[in-house]
Amino acid sequence: MGKFLLLFIGLLLVAARGGAEYSQDGKLSILEEFESWDIEDDDHDEVIDPANTFWDERSAKVPVNVDSFGAAGDGISDDTEAFVKAWNTACSASNSVFLVPLGRVYLVNATRFKGPCADKLVIQIDGTVVAPEEPSNWDPKLPRIWLDFSKLKGVLFQGNGVIDGSGSKWWASSCKRNKTNPCRGAPSALTIDSSTSVKVKGLTIRNSQQMNFVISRCDSVRISQVLVSSPGDSPNTDGIHITESTNVILQDSKIGTGDDCVSIVNASSNIRMKRIYCGPGHGISIGSLGKDNSTAVVSKVVLDTAFLRETTNGLRIKTWQGGSGYVRAIRFENVQMQDVANPIIIDQFYCDSPTECKNQTSAVKISQIMYRNITGTTTSEKAMKFACSDTVPCSNIVLSNVNLERYDGTVETYCNSAEGFGYGIVHPSADCLNSQDKECASSGDLIMSTMIHDIEKNHIVHTEL
Ligand SMILES: *[C@@H]1O[C@H](CO)[C@@H](O)[C@H](O)[C@H]1NC(C)=O
Ligand SMILES: *[C@@H]1O[C@H](CO)[C@@H](O)[C@H](O)[C@H]1NC(C)=O
Ligand SMILES: *[C@@H]1O[C@H](CO)[C@@H](O)[C@H](O)[C@H]1NC(C)=O
Ligand SMILES: *[C@@H]1O[C@H](CO)[C@@H](O)[C@H](O)[C@H]1NC(C)=O
Ligand SMILES: *[C@@H]1O[C@H](CO)[C@@H](O)[C@H](O)[C@H]1NC(C)=O
Ligand SMILES: *[C@@H]1O[C@H](CO)[C@@H](O)[C@H](O)[C@H]1NC(C)=O
Repeated sequence: MGKFLLLFIGLLLVAARGGAEYSQDGKLSILEEFESWDIEDDDHDEVIDPANTFWDERSAKVPVNVDSFGAAGDGISDDTEAFVKAWNTACSASNSVFLVPLGRVYLVNATRFKGPCADKLVIQIDGTVVAPEEPSNWDPKLPRIWLDFSKLKGVLFQGNGVIDGSGSKWWASSCKRNKTNPCRGAPSALTIDSSTSVKVKGLTIRNSQQMNFVISRCDSVRISQVLVSSPGDSPNTDGIHITESTNVILQDSKIGTGDDCVSIVNASSNIRMKRIYCGPGHGISIGSLGKDNSTAVVSKVVLDTAFLRETTNGLRIKTWQGGSGYVRAIRFENVQMQDVANPIIIDQFYCDSPTECKNQTSAVKISQIMYRNITGTTTSEKAMKFACSDTVPCSNIVLSNVNLERYDGTVETYCNSAEGFGYGIVHPSADCLNSQDKECASSGDLIMSTMIHDIEKNHIVHTEL
């Protein structure tokens, strides 16, 4: 019934807007897309207590403890070899639990933990794993990874342990900290690559050399109750970075770091985030995309329920001039901001380079972006910024019940080449989102806001949040 109602409203909207530049397909799909998404709760987590599982014949989990392979766990001895041996054993037998036990600290070098593994592997991290501190001793063959897991299928990472990148010397040698340093990449602390059906629950990742937690080339990943903690001034330490991945759920996680709390980049779709705390950090970002004239596509991303505090951006989409591809079907909703600079920002002129980026004619196309129930305080005057390419405008930006205030000052919305509309309360006003049909805009908007209000009510009643 909801779908039919939507279809009907959609047709009305198109009719009301007459000659507007909205494509009918675009309009219908934006609303349908946005109404029908939710995260179902997950009750299927295996709870594994390695001490007790011997007793349960059916699940018969077999602990493979790194200590049994000679790990010292004193934070000083090199436990890399013990980890590799334990991994080889755990990976080759089904029902294994690769166990990093509680209460000890294991020093481990950059390592690839490769699958595929036998069925039902659990990676249980209860203790602390630390990286060697010195960048100059890092394995030159593995410059961008520390703990890298790949080609896994049906694996559960869990535990209350800590993955600590010991990143302070890496940060000091970053060109962001000191312009005389060369700009070079640093390792990501935890990477899960080329894997399917992975769950990650409860881990803490901190002080990464660069990105804290990377999900790359994966399908079907659920991350919950993860804590990311790196200093607000640590350079390029994205919290959770999702690239070339599909069907990812990220929920109930708290991220404080020196770059984006979450960044979602090329070839990612169907990414759902729920109950996310972000701060300090650079906000929740789609992008950057399109660097060096590259093609990038990101679609179907939902953020539902988030709190952002003292971040340098809130909800951000950032693309470079000269790129191609698209970002579409994105919904940000139920977000509260406290002292956030740039709470809502689309930046198609993103340039994170020592040299100036020239404007070009091509750009990553941005459309079907919805912001709903976004409230709180901004530290910048331009609480909403839609800086879109002159040649590839942003389209179908929808704002509903947005209320952003600055303590003692006015707020405004900046638009360049951005088209869309608002309904319900929108403060600061989003009138600069230029509707093409100015004349019938007010009556059209009235019809639209009334109708959409009904959808909203319908949505709230019928959708479990
Ligand atoms: C870990 O890295 C250090 C520094 O490069 C090296 O001396 C050591 O042999 C490595 N350990 C292993 C087990 O490879
Ligand atoms: C930047 O690095 C240079 C060369 O290592 C050093 O001389 C300078 O003191 C550093 N500057 C800061 C602000 O740390
Ligand atoms: C974007 O993702 C596609 C598909 O995985 C890949 O082929 C392409 O190389 C990626 N582009 C960039 C710039 O990483
Ligand atoms: C991107 O394309 C523009 C226009 O064709 C060209 O001037 C520029 O050099 C290209 N940049 C890169 C990094 O390839
Ligand atoms: C709006 O978002 C806030 C903050 O996330 C939430 O507490 C509130 O319930 C939402 N309101 C509605 C009407 O959904
Ligand atoms: C690129 O275009 C935008 C929008 O017209 C303009 O504000 C900006 O100054 C231009 N940047 C450069 C480097 O020319």
